[in-house]
This record gives sequence, C-alpha cells and structure tokens, in this order.
Amino acid sequence: MEAPIKAPTPGAGGCGTVWWQSGTVYQIYPRSFQDSDGDGVGDLRGITARLDYLAWLGVDAVWISPFYRSPMADFGYDVADYCAVDPLFGTLADFDALISEAHRRKLKVILDFVPNHSSIAHPWFTESRASRMSAKRDWYIWRDPGPDGGPPNNWLSNFGGPAWTRDEATGQYYYHAFLPEQPDLNWRNPEVRAAMHDALRFWLARGVDGFRVDVIWHLIKDEGFRDNPQNPDFQPHQAGINRFHQVYSCDRPEVLDIIAGMRAVLRAYGERVLIGEIYLPIERLVTYYGPGLTGADLPFNFQLIQTPWRAEAVAALVAEYEAALPEGGWPNWVLGNHDQPRIAARVGEAQARIAAMLLLTLRGTPTLYYGDEIGLGHVPVPPERAQDPWGRNEPGHGRDPERTPMQWEDAPNAGFTAGTPWLPLTGDANRRNVDELRDDSRSILTLYRRLLSLRRDHSALSVGAWRGLALPSDLAAEVFAYERIADGETLRILLNFSNQGWSVPLDEGGPWQILLSTHSGRAGDRVERQLRLEPDEGVILGPPGR
Ligand code: GLC
Ligand code: MG
Repeated sequence: MEAPIKAPTPGAGGCGTVWWQSGTVYQIYPRSFQDSDGDGVGDLRGITARLDYLAWLGVDAVWISPFYRSPMADFGYDVADYCAVDPLFGTLADFDALISEAHRRKLKVILDFVPNHSSIAHPWFTESRASRMSAKRDWYIWRDPGPDGGPPNNWLSNFGGPAWTRDEATGQYYYHAFLPEQPDLNWRNPEVRAAMHDALRFWLARGVDGFRVDVIWHLIKDEGFRDNPQNPDFQPHQAGINRFHQVYSCDRPEVLDIIAGMRAVLRAYGERVLIGEIYLPIERLVTYYGPGLTGADLPFNFQLIQTPWRAEAVAALVAEYEAALPEGGWPNWVLGNHDQPRIAARVGEAQARIAAMLLLTLRGTPTLYYGDEIGLGHVPVPPERAQDPWGRNEPGHGRDPERTPMQWEDAPNAGFTAGTPWLPLTGDANRRNVDELRDDSRSILTLYRRLLSLRRDHSALSVGAWRGLALPSDLAAEVFAYERIADGETLRILLNFSNQGWSVPLDEGGPWQILLSTHSGRAGDRVERQLRLEPDEGVILGPPGR
C-alpha cells in the first residue's frame, strides 16, 4: 500500500462522543414492519413486539416514519394532528409503551417530524382557507393568481404538476411542494414556529431521543417568490420537478435560522439528536451543520444512493465528503430509505454485502433501512395494487417496491400480518425471512449482525479516524481501501466492487488477521504482504492475535 490520500481527522479519537455519533440508526416504515391487529398494515404494537429482534441485531436507535393522525394521502407525511397517534397505528398509550420498552432495551427512539407541510385536513388549514381575514391565513402560503390568472409563479410539485392550487373560497392559490393535500406551512410566521416547537416539546417530554426532520431544506421559500430557472439538462425520463433548478423554492439561506431554533428546543432536553432530510450536493449539504454547528446534528448524507456503484467513484465521494465537513461536524451515511430503490435492487445481491460492509465501516453514523439486512430487493407491485400517490401521478416514480412488508418467518405473509398485507411480499418470502437467515452463517443477516457487533467492539470503527489508501491504478478502479484508527488500533478495510478476484499488496502495517469477510470461513486467517480478495469480497483486517 502507498501513502494515505487523506490524513486522519483530528479529534475523532473516541472520547467525548455521544450516542448518536457512536451508534447506528435503524429506520422503520411503520406500515410495513409488523401488523398486530390483522388489518394488513403495521402498527406501534407490532414494532414493540419486535424490539427484541432489533436489540439482537445490535442497532442503537430506531427512527420511525410518521404515525401521527393523518388522512394518509402521502401515508402519514400529511399530518392532521402533530400530537396524536393515528388509530391505524394505535394510541398514545401504545406509543408510551413502545418507548419505555425500547428504553428498557437501551434502544433510542427517533420520530419523524414533518414541519414543512401539514395535511389539508389539519384544523389550521381549515381555518386558514376559510377567508382572507382568517387569523391563521398567514400560517400557510397564499398568493394572488399570476398576471394571466394562472399560478403565481412557475414552481412545480415534487410529485408532478404545479405546486399551486387555486382555492375557490377566496380565489387565491396555496403552495404545496408535494401533493395538493399537503399545503406548505409559512415558517416566516413566528406563530407557526411557536406551534411547531410546542409539538416538538410534546414528544420530547414523552421521552423521544430525537427527530428526523422531513424535507428540512424546503422550510423557507424565496421571499419574492421568484420563478425557478429552467434546467437545460432535463431528461424526459426524470420526474417533472427537474424541469427547473429549485433555486428559489428551497435551500434558502434563512432556513439555517429556523433549524437553529429547532435545535435549541431539543438542546433544552439534553442529548437529543436532530437529523435533517436534505437532498443537495455535498458543498450545499454541509452548510446544514449551521454556523458554529448550530444546525442539524446530522444532515442526512444520501451520496451513496446517488453515486454510481464503482470503487473509484465511491472512494472519491468519501474523500470529498470527509474534506468538506466543517470542523466538529459529525459525518453520517445512508444506503436506502422509503423513497429510494432498495440497495439490493440497485447493486445486486453480491454487492449488497459489500454495501453493508461499507456502510458499517465508514466514519460516521450509519442509518440502516429495515429489510436491507435480509436483502429485500425490488418487489414488483402490480398496477392494481399501487399505493404511492407519486407513482400514480408520474408512472415509473412510485415508491411501493421499497416499502413492502418485513419478512419474519416461514408462515403466511411471512409473519407480517394475519390479514391481507397492504403491499405484496417477495416471491421467496418463505426463505428470505429473519427466522431462516438468523442461523445461517452465510446469510446477509448474519453479516449485518457481525458488522454491528464488530463496530461495537472496536472504537476504531465506531468513532475512529478515517483515511483512504492509495492502490495501484488497475486495483483502484475496482477495490476501495481505507483504514479506521483509534486508541492505538488500526483496522484496514478492503472492498472489491468487481466480480473478479484480485491480489492486493499489503506492504505496510502488517501482519494482519482477517476480522471479518463477506465470504464466510476466512475470519481468523492471518495475512501478510498480500491478500487474495475473491470476487465481490470485502474484508476487515485487524492486528493479529486478538
Ligand atoms: C420526504 C419523505 C417522503 C415524503 C415527502 C413529503 O421526502 O421522505 O416520503 O413523501 O417528504 O413529505
Ligand atoms: Mg395493523
């Protein structure tokens, strides 16, 4: 191996880190985790019943997608009451039981907060739309029609079509970045801020450990509502929103102040985490740590989802991200979520194991998406069973295939529900389920569990510094190599992104011992000078004789 391409980041030695830095987050899409009442839709009691599994797997925190009262136009991302549980998911008492059972198992609970828009059915909106004189008129974004009587400007909805809907009662348009059933709140209004801060406090007082904040970069729009510029590179296969660069409708400088306000609310309750959902390029993303780190603790980093799955591209991405982080800003990594095609579908089964090793050995907080640990792939959903409103508006963009039920055992509906599941399961659910995979030493579930346990056992992995390693160019095209370092221990990670075997020179820092391989049977082997990497193999090397 040759010289490092980036020096270890100072200060990442392990002392003074908090749970959301050293820990791992597991995302649960509650409709699809476990149904407890036979209605075919997962619920809070179902999640509580599966907490032992999550403790066994070895994650530290669960983030639960929205379960607030909602007409479910966007499956809970349209909130009609920020302080109530939708009956579909259970009751507030069920939630209190969930959180106390989670805490008993040392699992943190992170809620999904959806402050950018409410449901059209929220009483705030009902009041707002009633008249131009309504006390809550300014809680939402109302504008007069444009000069031609059409929408006030050219902003588009992320789910297709215009982002403005005309309301008959007053002749004005209201703005919705997503569905017409999801009107955007006006965060420039201090009353809105206060009401939303109260909603945060409601859940913080119930013991939640943090929030993942939905579309946080959308919260403030341009004060002058200027038209977005055309995107000359728009391709017809892209979603319609990409016709314009979203310059004025989101990512406005004033948003950092709003985030700092939320962060301040959380800080009053101690070590709670604020994660922000942000789809922006790295140089914009890192600004969301805020001036003096007053912003999001973890601005979600979706770059692994957006970068081509090639060793060189991923290596360049990691180096670029590490270099762009502000002083003290904690990194994080995500492979998938309820809005993105499954990792196993994107890169295939063999590389999904490399992806798991990558996610759990990079520096920063990893977020796992439920079902990825059993290798759930793209589940085809026949048109008559389609659920996602985006897919109905813009065919081809539906998110149902990544939202299918968790598979637990070889039983009807893989143990997910005693009723009819709201979305289909995989064709191989009788084999691809937790029960079948947990005792199989070669399964992806076993690999995830071993990675999680190794991460707990080695501070080098959970909080250590990161440095990329240079490889000869033919190798670098296919193999990504890096080290993690803490407390005098160095671990070396080698990931083969190709389906070809390679001999990797190890002319520095050895001898080594294989701590874990994506290919079973090699752990414990000693290596010196040279390591044979099998096709699609990833290994973690450590000091011998531990
Ligand atoms: C976020 C959510 C997505 C939702 C959208 C609107 O991107 O992750 O599921 O549809 O916001 O709330
Ligand atoms: Mg149910």
